Amino acid sequence: GARSSETSGDGSSSDGEGNNQDGEKITIKFSHVVAENTPKGKAANMFEELAEKYTDGKVDVQVFPNSQLYNDDEVLSAVQQNNVQMAAPATSKVSKLFPEWQIFDFPFAFEDTQAVQEAMESEEIGGKLFKMLKDQNLLGLSMWDNGFKQMTLDEHALIKPEDFEGQKFRVMSSKVLEAQFEAVGANPTPMPFSEVYSALEQGVIDGQENTLSNIYSKKFHEVQNYMTISNHGYLGYAVITNDEFWTGLPDDVRSNLEKALDETTKWVRENGERLNNENLEKIKEDGTLKEIHKLTDEEKQAWIKAMDPVYKQFEEEVGKDLIDAVKALRE
Ligand code: LMR
Repeated sequence: GARSSETSGDGSSSDGEGNNQDGEKITIKFSHVVAENTPKGKAANMFEELAEKYTDGKVDVQVFPNSQLYNDDEVLSAVQQNNVQMAAPATSKVSKLFPEWQIFDFPFAFEDTQAVQEAMESEEIGGKLFKMLKDQNLLGLSMWDNGFKQMTLDEHALIKPEDFEGQKFRVMSSKVLEAQFEAVGANPTPMPFSEVYSALEQGVIDGQENTLSNIYSKKFHEVQNYMTISNHGYLGYAVITNDEFWTGLPDDVRSNLEKALDETTKWVRENGERLNNENLEKIKEDGTLKEIHKLTDEEKQAWIKAMDPVYKQFEEEVGKDLIDAVKALRE
């Protein structure tokens, strides 16, 4: 939708918070931090298009990508305060309010995105996680996949756990992610996504972990020399809204928005992996990395073993029940 709000500044009956009273347009601001040519970027734009179509233009969705409006640390409270109506932070970032959401950050916890989807659909994992959002005036609408993270580093290839020793890695704000790097002797540095490129460029950090689509679209591969295809951790998003805003919507509008969202979620589930794979090819074509190494099964086992203590360490903070439920998915 158009960036200019049609309900503001004219003394009309809009309450200025995206709600409408008498047939005016409802504005939904959707804030996110990634580029538009990524799974989340494309999904947000698709939601905008479908939402406006299905509501017959009653809703104006305004998408703000690339941390234009808010960065990682700010967006949760912006949704709580209804300054923006929707966001899709990485699950790791939701853990600032709800430590249980770190369940998705455990190293090698999920074999594939199918397993993540199974987890989200189960009552004891997804049900529990979505329910707790309500305590803080948030409503979980859906879960969008990005995919699995890979490791990059400036100095040398990351093949054995020892290769991490003493290297500084950027992490999203999640204690589990910090512990993952500490388990292999590295120094984790939490930092918003918007600052990663320049921190890599200036050598403030030595490496980082992210999906191929985030690496490619933000050009991390231009300021790093080595990448390991490790698929060691999952990156996905909690699509959230302000609970009061959403439940206050007219029923027909809400159900059309849900329809738009369902379709978008289906699309991102079916296409996230493809986009990431395409980005690997583009990274290769660019030729800016010295080496791309794919972990062998044997090498992967060594990483799994080295990072395994993280599970025990976070039993209390994340919850043994949740951890056991995720482990059970692998059996
Ligand atoms: C990151 O901070 O690395 C990611 O969460 C960015 C994103 O939203 O995919």
